Amino acid sequence: MKRFIFLSLGGIALLSCAPQQTKLTLEKENQIKQVGEESAMKLLKSLRAELMQALQKGSPEQAVEVCSKRAMDITTQIERETGHKVKRTTFKYRNPNNRPDRYEEEALRYFEEAINKDGKLPGYYIQTVKEDGTLTYRYYKPLKVEGLCLTCHGDKNLMDKNLVSKIEKLYSTDKAFGYREGDFRGVVRVSVPADKIK
Ligand code: HEC
Repeated sequence: MKRFIFLSLGGIALLSCAPQQTKLTLEKENQIKQVGEESAMKLLKSLRAELMQALQKGSPEQAVEVCSKRAMDITTQIERETGHKVKRTTFKYRNPNNRPDRYEEEALRYFEEAINKDGKLPGYYIQTVKEDGTLTYRYYKPLKVEGLCLTCHGDKNLMDKNLVSKIEKLYSTDKAFGYREGDFRGVVRVSVPADKIK
């Protein structure tokens, strides 16, 4: 299956000054995959560690506060450590800051279509885009909903009432309830500047 796509910004006008590259070599794809996966895992591991610690120490309500206050800090920290911009994004987001841009939407659709068709998620997806004027590879790692996630992303009617109201108070436009185990939850996006890949 094709795992990469070339996207030009802003249509024809920009297409003409876009580089000729339309396809990644297998070698490049493997390099992007390796560095992208490493940064994505760093983010996921740190978030999970913080989440588990908060759940063990206090109530889920306290854990929500930790998630809400710490998720962005952890993301910034991973960006500093790896030199790659990272973001969690999804169509059904809790925090509007995590709303997808149009390239992310395209990647989300790729995974959604795959899981609807085959019942399983491809391991990753790569795009070539211009980000702030710099040619960049975007590596996407899909996320699945696990039992643990349902504590805060499950069916509202089955969830703890105080927890639901706490989340609704913090996120007035929340779309991230109603997930079920095994659902496609979204992606981690890692931006790797093209000049870092030989
Ligand atoms: C203790 C409650 C809690 C649990 C458990 C939890 N989350 Fe979240 N999740 C949140 C909160 C709060 C946010 C919003 C964070 C922010 O403001 O950036 C969030 C945001 C997210 C986002 C970013 C996109 C968005 O919706 O804003 C993803 C992706 C995500 N969670 C996936 C998961 C997955 C996968 C699990 C299970 C492994 C999980 N969450 C478990 C509370 C939780």
